[in-house]
Amino acid sequence: MQWETAITHIKNGKELVRGYDLKKLILKKKFSEVIFLVLKGELPNGKETRMIDALFTAAIDHGVGVSSAMTARTVISTGNSLHTALAAGILAMGTLHGSAIEDAAKFFQEYAHTKDVSGLVSGLRKKKMRIPGYGHKILSRDPRSEALFEVAKKTGFYGAHCRFAVAVHKTLASVTSKQLPLNVDGAMAAIISDMGFDWRVAKGFFIIGRVPGLVAHIYEEMMSSNGLRRLEEHEATYSGPRERDF
Ligand SMILES: CC(C)(COP(=O)(O)OP(=O)(O)OC[C@H]1O[C@@H](n2cnc3c(N)ncnc32)[C@H](O)[C@@H]1OP(=O)(O)O)[C@@H](O)C(=O)NCCC(=O)NCCS
Repeated sequence: MQWETAITHIKNGKELVRGYDLKKLILKKKFSEVIFLVLKGELPNGKETRMIDALFTAAIDHGVGVSSAMTARTVISTGNSLHTALAAGILAMGTLHGSAIEDAAKFFQEYAHTKDVSGLVSGLRKKKMRIPGYGHKILSRDPRSEALFEVAKKTGFYGAHCRFAVAVHKTLASVTSKQLPLNVDGAMAAIISDMGFDWRVAKGFFIIGRVPGLVAHIYEEMMSSNGLRRLEEHEATYSGPRERDF
């Protein structure tokens, strides 16, 4: 069966990406502009470029303690290759870390025009649902989200989805025991929704932004003298039966 693609066309030694000569893109355009081009089909204007740069910067790294970085470093320490460790780091992303951006973008795109935000939030709380894009293990406010919204306001991407995300945040604060920040996944999800991206591509934004950070972790681990990562016996508590006979 014939495959069809609208992304790249290579013929007679010339490569066209979404219709633009790759050689000219290399000479004239920034990496983030070309990422926007492959994802959206068109080159971004100045404001879109500023916004997309900020989005990728916000996702760049979040320390050694997050599941994806810990996993990537553990996997490289066993003698695996860089790309295996990188893939493992990405696979460690789940709905509680790194993937909430997709669930949040879906939620915002489905409900952004809801009039009764407080009724919606209390209904979801009654169902014990965790609203994606809110909460954090160690942060009570997320400075990355605040900075992203600042850029969104300056560039004109603080629209209906961002306003809805903030309204949900305010309502959540009045119904939960813990102070839940609007986290970086939530802010990114709201902004890309206001930029017109489909929620199905949302996770790609987090991964594209985080890959450089993961590569840096993997390389640092490779060059370190840590050797094989494993827990020492005293770092895990045994809760099984005492020694016994058959
Ligand atoms: C990130 C997360 C795992 C952190 O969890 P945590 O800090 O351990 O929070 P806890 O499990 O202690 O929950 C504390 C309270 O807040 C509530 N809560 C936490 N996150 C919530 C959310 N996103 N929506 C609604 N309620 C939430 C819990 O139900 C609990 O309420 P209760 O005490 O009234 O029962 C959690 O907030 C979450 O699942 N968020 C949604 C997924 C997400 O956005 N992940 C990206 C993180 S950057």
